[in-house]
Amino acid sequence: MTTSKLSANLKWIALVSIFGLVALMAGAVEGRVVTHANTVARGKYLVEAIGCADCHTPLVMTERGPERDMKRSLSGHPSDMILPPAPVLPPGPWMFTASGTMTAWSGPWGTSFTANLTPDRETGLGAWTADQFLATIRTQRHMGIGRPLLPPMPAEIYASMTDEDLRSIFAYLQSIPAVVNKVPEPLPPVETR
Ligand code: HEC
Repeated sequence: MTTSKLSANLKWIALVSIFGLVALMAGAVEGRVVTHANTVARGKYLVEAIGCADCHTPLVMTERGPERDMKRSLSGHPSDMILPPAPVLPPGPWMFTASGTMTAWSGPWGTSFTANLTPDRETGLGAWTADQFLATIRTQRHMGIGRPLLPPMPAEIYASMTDEDLRSIFAYLQSIPAVVNKVPEPLPPVETR
């Protein structure tokens, strides 16, 4: 083997090893690649496991009993459902009442209506940024600067979630069908009405 042939062979060996190394490294990081699709899928998993729909998707009565109204999935208290004033409870251990839709709640804080979490720009979270969503959960205030969130929104519990999880939840909420639904403002406590 001539010296020039040997050095050509060595070059090939070096090139092949470098390609091999690059391929190995790509394989190693593959499992950790963060894509938008992964983020949305993680958000869907969290929203479903935590049960945001429990309060943010209205129930409708069907012949099989109450079921989630999927046409209004995560769109909050239906604006066309005008409720009579919440009942005044007698003194005692019972503290609050809820509508059959699970979207209107009355207690010592007044009457609260669950928010529209769909990406409609006017009535939902469509005009929100991820940072505003995080600030809402972290401070338990509307967009991080507005009024404090009322019960039963368990924001102080969700505040313990990581930024990554909260961003995933927001990414998923922005990916679902937008529902136009203007949720009413909360009402003051029954006693003071
Ligand atoms: C136990 C019922 C309940 C559950 C479960 C719940 N929420 Fe809420 N949520 C509410 C109520 C009620 C309000 C309205 C509070 C108010 O008007 O101050 C609200 C308000 C919000 C707001 C504030 C909107 C705004 O305009 O400031 C956001 C954001 C929100 N919820 C997101 C979520 C997410 C995301 C989940 C699941 C991870 C969730 N909620 C689970 C009851 C609930």
